[in-house]
Amino acid sequence: MLIKRSPNGIDLPFSSEITPRAVFESRRDFIRKVALGSIASGSMLEMVNREAFAQTPGAQKLAAAANPAYASMEKKTSFKDATTYNNFYEFGTDKADPAMTASSLRPRPWTITIDGEVKKPMTLDLDSLMKLAAMEERVYRLRCVEGWSMVIPWIGYSLSNLIKKVEPTANARYIEFITLDDKKQMPGLRSPVLEWPYVEGLRLDEANHPLALLSFGMYGEVLPNQNGAPVRMVLPWKYGFKSAKSIVKIRFVKDQPRTAWNIAAPSEYGFYSNVNPDVDHPRWSQASERRIGEDGFLARKRKTLMFNGYSEVASLYTGMDLKKFY
Ligand code: MTE
Repeated sequence: MLIKRSPNGIDLPFSSEITPRAVFESRRDFIRKVALGSIASGSMLEMVNREAFAQTPGAQKLAAAANPAYASMEKKTSFKDATTYNNFYEFGTDKADPAMTASSLRPRPWTITIDGEVKKPMTLDLDSLMKLAAMEERVYRLRCVEGWSMVIPWIGYSLSNLIKKVEPTANARYIEFITLDDKKQMPGLRSPVLEWPYVEGLRLDEANHPLALLSFGMYGEVLPNQNGAPVRMVLPWKYGFKSAKSIVKIRFVKDQPRTAWNIAAPSEYGFYSNVNPDVDHPRWSQASERRIGEDGFLARKRKTLMFNGYSEVASLYTGMDLKKFY
């Protein structure tokens, strides 16, 4: 694992460098072989068991009508890949860590507080939050800043439903997502790899875009812990790190909020972080991506599309220099 000292002095493993591809591929291959019995190892077998446990925390079904506007002809990423190759630093910095350690997260009971510049601040329990609008299944591509992507059937509803309910004041220009910060449940919080809690933000008009999904499930089930149970954002036109997991607070604010990766490395991760093949990360290109599951020697790289192909958001950025506001 490569560690770089960030400008603020924190030892920062940069996401794309945490686990080089060859390492994670051979690790996955190793896990697969152990699972198939071709390598016998007690501790590895235990690891595979823990992985299976974390993948299906009760495997509670979650009903949702498929929204045809967000159906997709693309092959979906397998449930296994989507739940064992994760970024969730509260559970470790290795892609395989969350599947193995996130079983300590308790997604119920859960409350979410919505406050700040709103006329109707409220604290909702999970059931009330889930009942706020009809659940939809939407197949979205998610593109990580590290250069890989997945296609996942998410379940949730547009965040705009919640925004309408709390009635933002005229001062509300941005929205801040604050995620769980509990060392008892999240072993990774003991490491200063990021400033905790993990925070993210959007401009209010971005948050109100119908594509911005408040998500409670995937693949017909409630969210597995490692994917951000019990409630997370999914913003398909932005790099994956904008989609905050395990949210406990949503705050409406006047000024642009700080965000976890921007605090850690401001020159590398901007506030907007729209998927943009024309704006390279300072240390690697963003012009193409690898689809998780399409592993192997001959796997082709795909061209990354502006806004990850979700061109309907373009009008949010009219007149902005997206090289400056990266
Ligand atoms: N949310 C929290 N709370 N903590 C995190 O470390 N990682 C982000 C994002 N949300 C992260 C988070 C990053 S870098 C990515 S790419 C996506 O979650 C990954 O989501 P997935 O594991 O469901 O694919």
